[in-house]
Amino acid sequence: MLNFSFQNTTKIHFGEGQISAITKAIPQDANVLVIYGGGSIKSNGVYQQVTTALADHNWFEFSGIEPNPNYDTLMKSLEIIKEQKIDFLLAVGGGSVVDGVKFIAAAAKFEGQDPWDIVAKHAPIADALPIGAVLTLPATGSESNIGSVITRDGNKLSFGHPLVRPQFAVLDPAVTLSLSDRQISNGVVDAFVHIMEQYLTYDVNGKVQDRFSEGLLQTLVEEGPKALVAETNQDLDVRANIMWSATMALNGLIGAGVPQDWATHMIGHELTASHGIDHARTLSIVLPAIMKVRRTQKHTKLVQFAERVWGITNGTDEQKIDQAIAATEDFFTQMQVPVRLSQVDIEAPFIDTLVNALEKHGMTTLGEHGDIDLTESRKILTAAL
Ligand code: NZQ
Ligand code: ZN
Repeated sequence: MLNFSFQNTTKIHFGEGQISAITKAIPQDANVLVIYGGGSIKSNGVYQQVTTALADHNWFEFSGIEPNPNYDTLMKSLEIIKEQKIDFLLAVGGGSVVDGVKFIAAAAKFEGQDPWDIVAKHAPIADALPIGAVLTLPATGSESNIGSVITRDGNKLSFGHPLVRPQFAVLDPAVTLSLSDRQISNGVVDAFVHIMEQYLTYDVNGKVQDRFSEGLLQTLVEEGPKALVAETNQDLDVRANIMWSATMALNGLIGAGVPQDWATHMIGHELTASHGIDHARTLSIVLPAIMKVRRTQKHTKLVQFAERVWGITNGTDEQKIDQAIAATEDFFTQMQVPVRLSQVDIEAPFIDTLVNALEKHGMTTLGEHGDIDLTESRKILTAAL
């Protein structure tokens, strides 16, 4: 196992009705800015629950954060933050809202020239406004991690800092019942791939991390499809297990002390930036291709993945790997997400553009060994056609 320091300070309020916990979780004398997206919270009762919980607080609101949060939109919030002396940010929404609020929290206190430097140059963050989150879409883990992904002019880039980790997060599985099948699928697949990015690397004898990861993967494989079929799609236990898996997938626990990959995400971000494809749907296309192209480097863990996650015990190692890749693709297909670039109308000639974008964004040493260069990324994208 590798050395690590681990701390996750986000207090989780989990379960039905827990939005009421924000009354006590946010300081009584705070000037709160409630920040949300396109309005789903107004039609599913979440906005009502939040405003009820904040009845005795001084609060304002800022809305319109779009999926893949846009820099220009986020910057508009700084005006009201200054005017109203806001000193607490409450994100109410999915990963895009939480990520956007993380950027706002850092930008509001940024002392450099250009807040975009926080993302583009990873400029030092010395201070940030405190954040709370009411999560409405289980997927990214953003509600209790330090990461954020921001888009500007076709560039989708990430930053991270402990100062933007939410102080608390409310996870009420009931609020996920209003999600469309597409967003539920996206969430399950995003969480699945987060686990794979931290699990499917090389063996460092991190038994705790491996067993946690395998348990989370199996939970998503078991519960994900249930959220899409009529008999079980209203089942709150199904939603609860998906929601908690997605948070655990990217709260730092399973990634501590083990190598991490993240090439699927970095290549996937270029597909979202160029074609607007939903984040998870880029991952379901890229991950199987990475498993194929990187099967030698990932051999040991691929066999372990086959045996322990899918119960594939017959055949040679190579046959087990083939079956595990097929099982992963079948699961993605069952979750109604694409597994090939052709399914999202991207053809071979566009690969040049994607490779150039990876180069422009400095994505030239990806993967757990840092050896996925542009030639290797081209192979991966070609395998995904
Ligand atoms: O904007 P509203 O109206 O709220 O609608 C949203 C949005 O259209 C809707 N939605 C959310 N909760 C709902 C709901 N609709 C009905 N009922 C509910 N309860 O869902 C749509 C998608 O929301 P979004 O927040 O974009 O989805 P997601 O949570 O998948 O977040 C994706 C973003 O997170 C980034 C992605 O790159 C992408 O920008 N990621 C962030 C990570 C992190 N911070 O650690 C890691 C991830 O790998 C990922 O990169
Ligand atoms: Zn992701």
